[in-house]
Amino acid sequence: MMTRHFLSLLDLTPGELRAIIARASELKAINRSGTLHETLKNRILAMVFEKSSTRTRMSFEAGMAQLGGHAIYLSPRDTQIGRGEPIEDTARVLSRMADAIMIRTFEHSKIERFAAYSEVPVINALTDMYHPCQLLADIQTWIELRGDISGKTVAWIGDGNNMCHSYINAARQFGFNLHIAAPAGYTPDAQLMKEADHCATLFDSPVEAAGDVDLVVTDVWASMGQEEEQARRAKAFADFQVNASVMSATKPDALFMHCLPAHRGEEVSEDVIDGPQSVVWDEAENRLHAQKALLEFLITPETGRSA
Ligand code: CP
Ligand code: NVA
Repeated sequence: MMTRHFLSLLDLTPGELRAIIARASELKAINRSGTLHETLKNRILAMVFEKSSTRTRMSFEAGMAQLGGHAIYLSPRDTQIGRGEPIEDTARVLSRMADAIMIRTFEHSKIERFAAYSEVPVINALTDMYHPCQLLADIQTWIELRGDISGKTVAWIGDGNNMCHSYINAARQFGFNLHIAAPAGYTPDAQLMKEADHCATLFDSPVEAAGDVDLVVTDVWASMGQEEEQARRAKAFADFQVNASVMSATKPDALFMHCLPAHRGEEVSEDVIDGPQSVVWDEAENRLHAQKALLEFLITPETGRSA
């Protein structure tokens, strides 16, 4: 059987994505009941982190432990990756020892090259282009709180970055409409927008984009690797904060999401992220459950793909 990878949301079918999310909610209930559930006993996940992480590392590591397996953290600081060993060689070696490999890196082409040489599933834990694991958690959160997301309207306010790109793919895969408000020069990838022109639309202002929507999402103005652009970006994004005036344009029961880490007073005001419409803590917790379902699906298709 061909090795399945999860480099973007487009690697799985809409049905597979929905099954993983349904399984994630089941695993959440099993976890809450305190029942041991070791479907990945003795399985190994290799985790390559070339950027910082709190949620992603914690959720993959805790998830593997809860499923009876083990996760091994590898950083460029103390592996040969940081000393220039070719990514193709690293892929071949790690995949002889691990049952799946998770990578957080910079260029998306690097994870694609890695996957081409890996004999086991490769999971994108964030590249400069996409963050698909976060979307599994976000959609799970929406479904658990509000039901089906198809036909709903989501507003993305801020940078046309890796999270925005994953929202564009999610709109295609889950059948919702996406309104995007981003400053000139920071709009999402044009090709991706073209492929999603039936469901993703650019707006000039955050208030316009948020008009009558069901969900508002944002992310930091400067992503990892863009730290030196912080001051320039802060100026460009000054009118793109999600605050009470943006939220007042939405449907009254709209939710607010943010993948975190957040900068209060920049991309989101304190009253919104800490207010009643914000579901950011559920969203963060669901990283754990959604990725456990993803790991089952990729490592043991017989259990993970039965849903
Ligand atoms: N949302 C997210 O991926 O967080 P970390 O960078 O902490 O992993
Ligand atoms: N866009 C952010 C997401 C962090 C989870 C970044 O890439 O740094």
